[in-house]
Amino acid sequence: MNQAACFPPIHDPVKKLRQFSLPVKHPWETFTHIVKGFIVLCLLSSISIVLYTTFIPKTHWHHFPNPSTPNSRFDPEPTNISHILFGIGGSVATWRDRSHYSSLWWSPNQTRGYVWLDDNNPPAGKQQQEEEGSSSSTNVPPVRVSSPEWTRFRYSSSRSAVRIARIISDSFKESQRQAAKGMKENNSGAIRWFVMGDDDTVFYTHNLVSVLAKYDHTQMWYVGGNSESVEQDVMHAYDMAFGGGGFAVSYPLAERLVAVLDGCLDRYFFFYGSDQRIWACIAEIGVQLTREPGFHQFDIRGNPYGILSAHPPAPLVSLHHLDYLDPLFPNQNRTESLKSLNTAYQMDPGRILQQTFFHDHTRKWTISVAWGYSVQLYPTLVHAMELRMPLQTFKTWRSWSNGPFTFNTRPGGPDPCILPVVFMLERAEELGQRGTRTIYSRVATKPQDTCNRTDYARAMSVQRITVSSLKLDPDYWIKVSTT
Ligand SMILES: *[C@@H]1O[C@H](CO)[C@@H](O)[C@H](O)[C@H]1NC(C)=O
Ligand SMILES: *[C@@H]1O[C@H](CO)[C@@H](O)[C@H](O)[C@H]1NC(C)=O
Ligand SMILES: *[C@@H]1O[C@H](CO)[C@@H](O)[C@H](O)[C@H]1NC(C)=O
Ligand SMILES: *[C@@H]1O[C@H](CO)[C@@H](O)[C@H](O)[C@H]1NC(C)=O
Ligand SMILES: *[C@@H]1O[C@H](CO)[C@@H](O)[C@H](O)[C@H]1NC(C)=O
Repeated sequence: MNQAACFPPIHDPVKKLRQFSLPVKHPWETFTHIVKGFIVLCLLSSISIVLYTTFIPKTHWHHFPNPSTPNSRFDPEPTNISHILFGIGGSVATWRDRSHYSSLWWSPNQTRGYVWLDDNNPPAGKQQQEEEGSSSSTNVPPVRVSSPEWTRFRYSSSRSAVRIARIISDSFKESQRQAAKGMKENNSGAIRWFVMGDDDTVFYTHNLVSVLAKYDHTQMWYVGGNSESVEQDVMHAYDMAFGGGGFAVSYPLAERLVAVLDGCLDRYFFFYGSDQRIWACIAEIGVQLTREPGFHQFDIRGNPYGILSAHPPAPLVSLHHLDYLDPLFPNQNRTESLKSLNTAYQMDPGRILQQTFFHDHTRKWTISVAWGYSVQLYPTLVHAMELRMPLQTFKTWRSWSNGPFTFNTRPGGPDPCILPVVFMLERAEELGQRGTRTIYSRVATKPQDTCNRTDYARAMSVQRITVSSLKLDPDYWIKVSTT
């Protein structure tokens, strides 16, 4: 298919390119083109992952149980949402203002788990919602009060860190009580994973399941991500799962952790956070962190745009610290922004934020798509390596510095002539049963933030970009990691 089909010739760009469609002429051509692009993407990702697993020797030393030991918990059924028990760390003081984050991802008859508060009196979030006559109170995890023993532990900086560290014990014991009473929720299998998060963590549960399904839940696993800001990793630990991004502990590890936790908490009374205590106690058991790039602690300030528009090729699992960051979409507040992202996520969960790029050699344009979120148009030819590198639209968490981060960045300003013309998701539509169409509209920039070069003026005349794509195979992320 030639470029002209994708990019009709422009004579007067300002007048004619009000609506720029990618591609424009024939819906079927559109489809084949995207399918081709997508196959290349699939191939690239499978190739790179195959190389990784071929050349990096797998270490099995941290799987303590002898693999030949018969395991009564073994269940060959694929992991689904009902195998996960969420333990959300909240407090009476924060729950009221933060429960709206949980309501974005909690789905009452599917997700299992609790938000653990320090006190039940008054249950602030719930009361507030009832007063307002809101029906959303059922769309948040049921509230439980942390078992009171936490108050007897030593601590140096934050007392609540002890309580939150013990949520995994509280969750484990609660699940055992429920199982004993035969009160297992409908349609639910045995618990395979305990997933911890904060009350301001937003989970993308479909992708969380895809990520966890890759691991053998009958072995001991500790899965999560660390901080984006090097200063945070240095101060806490590089190889620790930061709690706000959420982390997962497989059942056999949770069982062992719960047995040693209380003794261990006293040993690490001098640590700052709950996540650091859990990390230390798991390290004592001999298990190390398995990093998954879709967990986002988001220890950054400013605008997360740079990271989200160049997300690593991995499913989006969580977002955190959104109260401290600019809303994800311009001209929308935080909640609206998350709902906008959700419209695309719900149509094709595995593809959300996945980056694809094209070069138009005729126009010398580069287009980079972060699916369901944003499209960048560069009026120049930009290398793939540069496109994969986040624009630095943010600063570090603690010192508000320009780095370092745990990944490379490229300047996010101030010269507007190094930046792309940006389009943000306007709407997402189903295209038949197997496809989607996402439409992105150009973000207006102030004159002082606008590059005045003629090649930019041409790119700026594009008002909208339409991307059609096939839905990702729901098992795509499981397959790429196991082949
Ligand atoms: C959850 O399940 C119960 C019982 O099956 C049903 O009454 C209720 O409407 C369901 N709630 C949602 C949000 O689907
Ligand atoms: C769910 O479980 C409850 C109690 O065990 C039962 O009354 C109800 O009928 C079940 N609902 C479904 C849809 O199976
Ligand atoms: C999850 O898997 C279990 C088997 O372990 C099965 O019984 C259950 O129906 C599945 N639930 C969903 C929601 O798919
Ligand atoms: C965000 O916008 C929505 C819709 O416009 C509005 O209902 C909501 O109150 C706003 N939230 C905040 C925190 O301003
Ligand atoms: C581009 O031109 C406009 C109008 O002449 C001016 O206000 C703006 O500052 C210029 N932008 C840059 C980055 O020089």
